[in-house]
Amino acid sequence: MADDEIQLEPPTVRHPDIVPAVEDRSYLGYIGSALFVALAGGFLLAVFLPLAESGTIGWADRVPLLIQAHGWAQLQGWAGLFVAGMAMRLMPRFAGRKPLKRNVTVPVLVLLVFSVVVRTVAEPFIDGAAGDWLVLIAAISGALGTLATGGVLFYTLARGRRKQEPWRYFAFAGAAWWIAWAAFILAAGIRAYSDGRYTPAPLDDALTWIVFIGPIGNFIWAVQSRSVPVFFGRKTPKLRQVAVPGVALNLGGALIAASLLPLSDTASARLVGFGLLFAGIGFTWLPPLAGSVWGTAHRLRPRARSAARYVLAANIASVGAGLLLVWAGSESAWRAAYEAVGVRDAARHTLGLGLITMLIIGMAQLVAPLFALERAEARKPGLVERGPFWLLIAATLIRVYGALATGHMDEAARLHLVSSAGVLAWVAIALFAVLVARARRREPRMKAILFDGAAAAMAQKAATNAKPPEAGEGHDPNG
Ligand code: HEM
Repeated sequence: MADDEIQLEPPTVRHPDIVPAVEDRSYLGYIGSALFVALAGGFLLAVFLPLAESGTIGWADRVPLLIQAHGWAQLQGWAGLFVAGMAMRLMPRFAGRKPLKRNVTVPVLVLLVFSVVVRTVAEPFIDGAAGDWLVLIAAISGALGTLATGGVLFYTLARGRRKQEPWRYFAFAGAAWWIAWAAFILAAGIRAYSDGRYTPAPLDDALTWIVFIGPIGNFIWAVQSRSVPVFFGRKTPKLRQVAVPGVALNLGGALIAASLLPLSDTASARLVGFGLLFAGIGFTWLPPLAGSVWGTAHRLRPRARSAARYVLAANIASVGAGLLLVWAGSESAWRAAYEAVGVRDAARHTLGLGLITMLIIGMAQLVAPLFALERAEARKPGLVERGPFWLLIAATLIRVYGALATGHMDEAARLHLVSSAGVLAWVAIALFAVLVARARRREPRMKAILFDGAAAAMAQKAATNAKPPEAGEGHDPNG
């Protein structure tokens, strides 16, 4: 074998039930778009937004709009596009159905990407009637794309295998939340259109929590519950084990949604408080059951184990975020007011950076077909694979410290600290983008190496079978 050739070991699992996946590469469009929105939008705004808040750069008057654009880009763009792409790829397989067709997945992608790009640019930067209209058009496109995502997933699950497995219930709940999300996006867009591109704070706040909990949270536990315990040498959980935390999570989302009904301010605040409290119980309780918070992924080959560390860290972050939500939720429910601002911000970013971003990078490497051939490599993971892990750990810790320090340290210094977390996270995502691009570039070569290896093995087997017996061969000396 030449020096520049990559040594490959045989794939991890062989089983007669495993059907080779039909090659559908539209999920790559979702991953690529999620990365684009993250690097050019959400994480870039994460660096500049705190600097605008502290007055270090201009745009002070645009801060509320920048905050909403950042939240929108991160949730609908980075997390939403990734989860939609992977859910549309994985759910039909989990449910024993045919893969979704490109004429469904590609138009949905166009609607979602158009929506998030237009909203992220128009909300903070395009003043006047043009900006108002663009925000409304973005909301219509986003609502259509989100409704289609939820509808297609719901239909797939309803027509699929009916096994009593936890993933199916989380996935159903997730699909239903995607459909509900469409209505909230439209409502937020209509209010923003008539309110200078700004979504009223109670609606915006409720919407962001609902997205963390419902459409994103449920799919996180659907995909994890089916695979992660197995990576770590444990059995997948039984439905009755995850039923209580799963219901708590979704009840939390439902209570927060109910806070938007025409109620008194104190009743709404109390509902949000209880909603955060219940969702916190779910995020704290689910990781040890449906994910993993300890151990080594010894069921994976050594090359894939480094990706499993992201999954472990993500689940530990989920426990931390859950506890922060219980804290913030209890205070708000008790006092019937918007309380614990810093703790809420800490919980939001422990979920956004610690759980979601860590999990995206880890699970992409563990389940996306793009990385299938890299997972089989014998080579040890290099700096590009390890770098994002440590950068994200540092970014999460700094961001969460910055949130909890609200009101306890000099505000400008705190915001500069928060911005530095943004720089670290941006570099982590850029390195992950390099990983994706590298896997994509190497795929044909890796496939060729695998194919040559398999062809050589088959040729050798055929030659052995055809060879006439030599002297001493073909009979048993003892017989
Ligand atoms: C290190 C990276 C990040 C930094 C520096 C950062 C920074 C910020 C800042 C400064 C705010 C405004 C807080 C306030 O003043 O109330 C904010 C809000 C927010 N962030 Fe981040 N963020 C980061 C990553 C993320 C990620 C990965 C997500 C989600 C996946 C996320 C979701 C949100 C949401 C939903 C809001 C609230 C938006 C709203 O109120 O409409 N952030 N972030």
